[in-house]
Amino acid sequence: MINLQQQTQLTDRFGRVVNYLRVSITDRCDFRCVYCMAENMTFLPRRQILSLEEIQFVCQAFTELGVGKIRITGGEPLVRQGAVGLLQALGRLPLRELVLTSNGSHLAQMAADIKAAGVKRINISLDTLDPAKFKALTRTGDIEQVLAGINAARHAGFERLKINAVILKGRNHDEVCDLLQFAVDRGLDISFIEEMPLGRIDGRSRSENFYPGSQIREDLQRRFKLTALPEAGSGGPSVYYQVDGGHSRVGFISPHSSNFCGSCNRVRLTPEGRLLLCLGNEDAVDLKAVIRAHPGDMHRLKQTIVNAMQFKPEKHEFDIHEQPVILRHMSATGG
Ligand code: GTP
Ligand code: 5AD
Ligand code: SF4
Repeated sequence: MINLQQQTQLTDRFGRVVNYLRVSITDRCDFRCVYCMAENMTFLPRRQILSLEEIQFVCQAFTELGVGKIRITGGEPLVRQGAVGLLQALGRLPLRELVLTSNGSHLAQMAADIKAAGVKRINISLDTLDPAKFKALTRTGDIEQVLAGINAARHAGFERLKINAVILKGRNHDEVCDLLQFAVDRGLDISFIEEMPLGRIDGRSRSENFYPGSQIREDLQRRFKLTALPEAGSGGPSVYYQVDGGHSRVGFISPHSSNFCGSCNRVRLTPEGRLLLCLGNEDAVDLKAVIRAHPGDMHRLKQTIVNAMQFKPEKHEFDIHEQPVILRHMSATGG
C-alpha cells in the first residue's frame, strides 16, 4: 500500500500524473443524441446515484490529492436539481479550474448563476446549424433553445466557450466549414469529434458514418488558415489550431486516428460513484461503497483513490468496425 502521508499528487504505473477529474453528476438528459443514446433508455434510480454532498466529498478528496481541474458533465448536468448549488460549493475548493460540459438547453436561464458560482469555461454541444438536422440528431432537442443558451453564456462573460461537434458522414459532415464560421463569428472555440463506440445505439452502423478528423481538417483548410498550436500540455485528446490568426481555436478529438493516451491526465467519477480509470475501458473502483460504509472518513477515501491509480490502463482500445466492447453509454460517463 502506498503511504498516504507522502502523497501530494496522483501518479499511475506509467508515471502519468492525474490532475484532472471529470465528474458526471447524472446519466439523465433532455436530449437523445443518436451517437450517445438509444431511443429508449432506462436511467439509474435515484438511490443508486451519489448525493450532491457525496459528490462534493469526493471532489474535496481529489483536490487534497493534487487535482486542480474538475469538469462537471452528465448526461446533461444541468437537468439535475441542485446542480448550481453543487457548482457553488465546488467553486470554493482550491481548484485551478472548475469547468462544465453541457448540451446548452438550460443555459439561457442558468448561465449567469453558473458564472457567479466560479465556473471558468463551458463546452456546449452543437453538431449542426440546421433546425431539422438538429432535431434528427438529438431526437428531442430544439436548436433555438441551444442558440439562446450559447448567447446567454457569451453575455455572462466566461473566459472561453467551446462548441463540441460530433461529425458523422452523411449526417453533418458537409457542415464543418459553416460550424467553424459560426464559432469564429462569435469568438468561440470549437472541437470536431470522431464518434466513439460506447454503448449500443439503434438504427445505424457506426462504421458507415465514420468521418475522420484528418478529413475534417482538409475540408476546413480549403476555406480557413489553420496554424498548429504548440501542445499546451493539457494532457487532453484535442489537437488545437488557431483559425485565420484570430481568437478562435479549432480542436480535433480523434480517438481512432490518433492516440493521446500516453499523456492522459484524467480519471472519471460516474453518477453511481464508480471511479473510471479510462473512458475506453471498464476498469473502475467503487468509491460509493467506501463512502457509504465509512461516512466522513476522508483518509480512507483518499487511500482508496491513491490505490486505484494502479488500475489505470495504458491506452484505450476502440474499434468502430466491431460491436462496442464498452456497454455503458457516453451519457453514463460524460465523455
Ligand atoms: P478539456 O480537455 O477539459 O479542455 O475538454 P474536452 O474537450 O476534453 O472535454 P469535453 O467534455 O468537451 O469532451 C469533448 C469530447 O472529448 C467528448 O467526446 C469526450 O468523450 C472526449 N474525451 C474527453 N476526454 C477523453 C479521453 O480521455 N479519451 C477519449 N477517447 N475521449 C475523451
Ligand atoms: N462519441 C463521441 N462523442 C460523443 N459525445 C457523446 N457521445 C459520443 C460518442 N459516442 C460527446 C457529446 C458531448 C461530449 C461530452 O461528448 O457531443 O459534446
Ligand atoms: Fe444528452 Fe450529451 Fe448524450 Fe446528447 S450527447 S444525449 S446532449 S448527454
